[in-house]
Amino acid sequence: MSGAALVTGGAGYIGAQACKSLANAGYLPVAYDNLSRGHRDAVRWGPLVEGDIDDRPLLVETLARFQPVAVMHLAGYIAAGESVAEPALYFHNNVSGSLTLFEALLASGGPPVVFSSSAAVYGLPESVPIAETAARRPVNPYGETKLVVERALEWLDRAHGLRHVALRYFNAAGADPDGEIGERHEPETHLIPLVLDAAAGRGGPVEIFGTDYPTRDGTAIRDYIHVQDLAEAHVRALDYLLAGGASMALNLGTGAGHSVREVIRATERVTGLPVPYREAPRRPGDPPILVADAGRAKAVLGWQPALPALDDMIATAWNWQKLP
Ligand code: UFG
Repeated sequence: MSGAALVTGGAGYIGAQACKSLANAGYLPVAYDNLSRGHRDAVRWGPLVEGDIDDRPLLVETLARFQPVAVMHLAGYIAAGESVAEPALYFHNNVSGSLTLFEALLASGGPPVVFSSSAAVYGLPESVPIAETAARRPVNPYGETKLVVERALEWLDRAHGLRHVALRYFNAAGADPDGEIGERHEPETHLIPLVLDAAAGRGGPVEIFGTDYPTRDGTAIRDYIHVQDLAEAHVRALDYLLAGGASMALNLGTGAGHSVREVIRATERVTGLPVPYREAPRRPGDPPILVADAGRAKAVLGWQPALPALDDMIATAWNWQKLP
């Protein structure tokens, strides 16, 4: 396919990788980002429109200028812990900003939307692996905002035929295998970058949040998914919508879980360096195990992770972090 695709949050960790995959697939990625948490130098595969997600006039103008065939909506705040402290910030940016975007889209003819959702919509799952049909009961404002936007999209489809795919990411990890872009959060809260920092001797030992979980080694288990695989799934979801596909939600994970201790051991293997760590209490709101049933994404999109091995995720992140 070809044409422009608008990527909100296109200067962020996953948005920039999605822009690269879009360009490789023959689309012109138009990044729309206010750079409050994204990075100008991550926008390399198409133009950058610098603006807020709640700036309706600028959105309308951008849609008229580029006439995108579809939209990838990744702009949003992503830190679950911060969302508990600042719920209004999260509802304003993630919910109200999304509604402003959707209204502008409807006014421009309603190009379909690939929406960046999260496994956080499930909250504390009753069983794992988690299928898309599992109850959505978020346990923090971040997950709640993702659920509200999913619901808004479901109603907008019924009312106005605005089609969407909501992609529920599990734990995004790794960096661009070519080393062009990677994860840069400020402050960093995610496990793998913090473990790599500890290995590199930056910032002291990493804390293991909880060693008394009912898991094989007492630490929490997550389903890590390579950022390039996430990006490829976005392009496939966009192609699916452009081919006339119906709205749906899809989990994006590998279906394999890794504990915090396993991430530390894998990092020692990949870097050849010891990882200093300290055992600490559980972080509030962290479920013991989150693992995806990713069968639907495979069935609908023909998508499968190309880099499912944890060591590859850590190696690409390490390659990115140690660059000057
Ligand atoms: N962890 C530590 N020490 C740290 C950081 C994390 O032990 O310093 C643990 C966490 O307790 C968790 C695991 O490592 O068990 C992964 O933590 P991350 O912060 O890397 O990721 P989360 O699973 O908390 O969050 C991710 C996304 C969120 C999203 C959530 C969905 O980053 O945006 O998955 O469940 F909300």
